Amino acid sequence: MAGEGKGAPRVLIINGSPHRAGCTATALAEVARELERAGVACETVWVGNAVKGGCMGCGFCAKNGRCVQNDIVNDLLEKFEAADGLVVGTAVHYASATGSITSVLDRLFYASSFDKRFKCGAAVVSCRRGGASATFDQLNKYFTISQMPVVSSRYWNSVHGHAPEDVRRDVEGMQTMRMLGRNMAFMVKAIALGKEQLGLPEVEPMEWTSFMDEHPRD
Ligand SMILES: Cc1cc2nc3c(=O)[nH]c(=O)nc-3n(C[C@H](O)[C@H](O)[C@H](O)COP(=O)(O)O)c2cc1C
Repeated sequence: MAGEGKGAPRVLIINGSPHRAGCTATALAEVARELERAGVACETVWVGNAVKGGCMGCGFCAKNGRCVQNDIVNDLLEKFEAADGLVVGTAVHYASATGSITSVLDRLFYASSFDKRFKCGAAVVSCRRGGASATFDQLNKYFTISQMPVVSSRYWNSVHGHAPEDVRRDVEGMQTMRMLGRNMAFMVKAIALGKEQLGLPEVEPMEWTSFMDEHPRD
């Protein structure tokens, strides 16, 4: 991992754009630069078009701790477990995250049985024109169901462009990315300190309520 030092906090960055060096990558690189400047080790993984399928709901992961579709998701499981923070970037496709990143995140979060609590999460989206905030909301759902604090910036974390040079000209978007990187560095360090000094809050056993028993069909 770039910027790695002994005991340095780590952030995993996943680029879910179909373009390895496109607009999303340009935004994520700006976040990574600030994280590394603050002494946080970063690794960026481009999932691109490597993933062919979404979650099949087969239950293999519950028994085996990994996905039955043995692809990049299983590599990401280990990296995610070792990370203190996760940044997920996507291009906006039809006002949503890309099919690839949706498949990856559904399977990554469903198959990960390790404790994700208090790993920080941040979403980054790139669109040409519209759908940024809907996509941003979509990605944040993975963090908030997992007790992962969401790191924010001064705006919703989006950049605009059709090509990387457009994104570099999106001065406000790039500033949002730099501030996100700095805020995330602060949050992962602050949470590490908090864990040391306060420990983690108590967890209640899961109450699994599907509203069926209370309302049986006639
Ligand atoms: C299939 C597809 C759907 C898209 N849908 C949208 C959209 O809903 N809104 C938008 O502003 N841009 C849309 N775009 C454009 C990309 O989101 C935008 O150019 C993005 O910045 C590209 O990032 P990338 O270089 O990382 O792929 C779409 C592009 C593709 C290929």
